[in-house]
Amino acid sequence: MKVVIISASPNRDGLTAACAAAAVAGAEQAGGQAEEIRLNDLQVGMCEACDNGWGTCRPEHECQVEDDFQALHGRVLQADACVLVTPVYWGEMSESTKAFADRLRRCEATRGDESGLAGKPTIAVAAAGGSGNGMITCLLSMEKWIDQVRARKFDLITVNRWNREYKLVAIREAARKMVQTAL
Ligand SMILES: Cc1cc2nc3c(=O)[nH]c(=O)nc-3n(C[C@H](O)[C@H](O)[C@H](O)COP(=O)(O)O)c2cc1C
Repeated sequence: MKVVIISASPNRDGLTAACAAAAVAGAEQAGGQAEEIRLNDLQVGMCEACDNGWGTCRPEHECQVEDDFQALHGRVLQADACVLVTPVYWGEMSESTKAFADRLRRCEATRGDESGLAGKPTIAVAAAGGSGNGMITCLLSMEKWIDQVRARKFDLITVNRWNREYKLVAIREAARKMVQTAL
């Protein structure tokens, strides 16, 4: 079983990275094949609302803005399960998470029940490393996104610097259970 773990912080050793590493560990412990993707290592620009607002995303379910998104889109479709880890910025998903999520939603939510993510178990993690404010609002938008692309919410997890120790255990266990359940 292939699990794609997408994280979106420029920091390689911060809270977001630790959450992603915990998910990788849990998926691998259960015998899953974990593929980690750092969005900040890729060029994934924002949606350009092409043409009249809908470019090729609605009729063809492909994004016409050419960058690393196309390959990333394919990798997500090939995975059996997903973990999406964002740092909380301004109480929302980080800009790089949002750019990716927006473009994927346009391509897949427009397929309705035929979405390439339909029924795929997904764990969303909102990592608020500053004040700890905005975890819930961030997670709320991640939940909405999961619903819109028809994925299945396996878990929705908030993390801050005070609960980090036990939440990393929770993320690892959630990923492990997600793989076990799906195998
Ligand atoms: C632009 C920006 C906005 C931020 N907004 C919040 C916030 O609303 N709440 C919070 O707890 N932390 C906030 N932070 C801190 C990040 O959540 C924190 O850096 C995050 O855990 C990522 O840490 P990491 O890069 O070590 O993974 C913000 C950081 C940046 C750069």
